[in-house]
Amino acid sequence: MSRLCGRLVPSLFRATTAHLHTTPSCSVNITFIEKGIERHVKAIRGDSIMETAKDNHINLPSVCGGMCECSTCHVIADQATFDKLEEPEEEELDVLDAVDGVTETSRLACQVDVTRGIEGARFIVPDSFSDMR
Ligand code: FES
Repeated sequence: MSRLCGRLVPSLFRATTAHLHTTPSCSVNITFIEKGIERHVKAIRGDSIMETAKDNHINLPSVCGGMCECSTCHVIADQATFDKLEEPEEEELDVLDAVDGVTETSRLACQVDVTRGIEGARFIVPDSFSDMR
């Protein structure tokens, strides 16, 4: 199993956690705010925020597919959410450094795991994205 940017490669990770998708108690409520509109979704523990966005048709291009290379999965967490998240890895911070519109609570959605601890998390989806590759 390979790791990139401190995470398992998403496709491999999803394959090993496929059984979790059938258990409702494994879901966490999160909100995406896209163009000012709140979208409340159920996120599956073990998925990333990027995968959750894609599964729910949120506009996060995620061009590199979760490899921590492109920055097109940039989201802005509200402060309460940001405080609940695991610390970002150095690779994520390096990518975020080059992103237009980055904030103190910016994260790459592909590097944030859905865990029970982020119940109620809120993420703003920027109106535009830049691919930093
Ligand atoms: S999908 Fe490319 S950095 Fe997250």
